[in-house]
Amino acid sequence: MTDSLDIEPVQSIQSEDAWVSVIQKMDEAYTDLVQSQVEVERKNVELEEAKSFSDSIQSAMNDVLIVCDNDGIIEGVNRALTEVAGESESALIGRSITTLIDPSLHGKVQAFRERLQAQPVRDFEIELQGKSGKVPLSVNCTARLNHRGKSVGMVLVGRPLGELQRAYKELNIAHAELQLAQQRLIQSEKMASLGRLVAGVAHELNNPISFVYGNMHVLRRYTDKLSSYFDAVASGESRDALREMREKMRLEKAIKDLNSLVDGTMEGADRVKEIVNDLRQFSTSQESEKAPFDLGHTVHTALHWIMKESKYPVEVIDNIPRPFKAYGHAGQIHQVVVNLIENAVDAMETSEQRSLIINAKSDKDGVLLTIKDSGPGIAAKDAPQIFEPFYTTKPVGMGTGLGLSISYGIVSQHDGELSIDNHTGGGAIASLFLPNRESTDA
Ligand SMILES: Nc1ncnc2c1ncn2[C@@H]1O[C@H](COP(=O)(O)OP(=O)(O)OP(=O)(O)O)[C@@H](O)[C@H]1O
Ligand SMILES: [Mg+2]
Repeated sequence: MTDSLDIEPVQSIQSEDAWVSVIQKMDEAYTDLVQSQVEVERKNVELEEAKSFSDSIQSAMNDVLIVCDNDGIIEGVNRALTEVAGESESALIGRSITTLIDPSLHGKVQAFRERLQAQPVRDFEIELQGKSGKVPLSVNCTARLNHRGKSVGMVLVGRPLGELQRAYKELNIAHAELQLAQQRLIQSEKMASLGRLVAGVAHELNNPISFVYGNMHVLRRYTDKLSSYFDAVASGESRDALREMREKMRLEKAIKDLNSLVDGTMEGADRVKEIVNDLRQFSTSQESEKAPFDLGHTVHTALHWIMKESKYPVEVIDNIPRPFKAYGHAGQIHQVVVNLIENAVDAMETSEQRSLIINAKSDKDGVLLTIKDSGPGIAAKDAPQIFEPFYTTKPVGMGTGLGLSISYGIVSQHDGELSIDNHTGGGAIASLFLPNRESTDA
């Protein structure tokens, strides 16, 4: 018993120590647990904060955000997209991104994906099928990588093309339309010029055509005579009978006439050809290439037709050397020259003495053509406006007021200069400068 009594206290001391240490360990473990719990809760709060921070950023974004996997299945979207698409986040997640895009643009989406394989895509324009129609977006897209750096999808951020950009596009379209309208205006001014000259042209054509007709009638008469004479030869008529026939039908004279009749007819046909060629200048397309041309011929043709149509005689002093080479669009410059001469002739309507002096000179820089009239000159009040479109001092129906503004445009496109001044000796003088080829092409 004593032994056991001796031993017992030792055991009890030992077991007590063990308990104390267990309790201590449990205490420590509990403290650790509590600390971990506190830590977890702290992390949780941080996580919540981070999420709500990221959510608040995403929902504050006006740009559309789409996160999807490599197959284009949507995994996340922001508020801007739900608003544009008119669908809830849960309805969008799990769907293919292509369901948000008009089927006609799926090819574009494919191109987009292919481009993304190589590099991030920037400013790719595409239209999203929104709840209230199509929404044009400028999309930037980058690949989404996992922690090992492997691509697991893509992140698309689309900026709705704002009003400004849309307005810019509309402006571009309007600009293109305006240019087209201007081209049409130039064409119609040309047609108006042509219209004014048509009567003269008809008269001019009438002349050669009537003598071609006259000659052809005579030729037909001669042909009839010759064929009846050859019929008589073929049927074996006597020499005397044939001679009598020749004299009666005046065949010798007819044969002598043949050459001049043919020459005259050819001349008439050539004249018709020339007139038609002249007229072609009016229809030369605006797009034709610039090339060297004879400005002397252009002025001569313009003068010829305008004078034909003029209601009053005008003394013309044409000092242009022929040929007089210039460089540009012959048809367009013809239109300018026609307008300058028409203006000069119109201005002299009420003048007692009507004279038109045309001079030209050229130097290494280009050619200068001047057209001086003896009209009243340009009134001070009109001078600042004569180059404005639709500015005219002529009665209704007599001028559109487009002549000088179109001419100015044409000359500017040639890098040339066009001006109209009053001459010290009275009347107005129009000056047209066209640079030579080297300076134009430089
Ligand atoms: N040589 C000139 N002498 C006096 N006034 C001129 C002369 N040339 C032009 N003007 C003035 O400039 C105005 C504008 O000329 P522009 O050629 O642009 O139009 P328009 O001749 O009136 O009409 P359109 O050319 O369409 O027949 C003329 O109405 C006229 O008042
Ligand atoms: Mg005019």
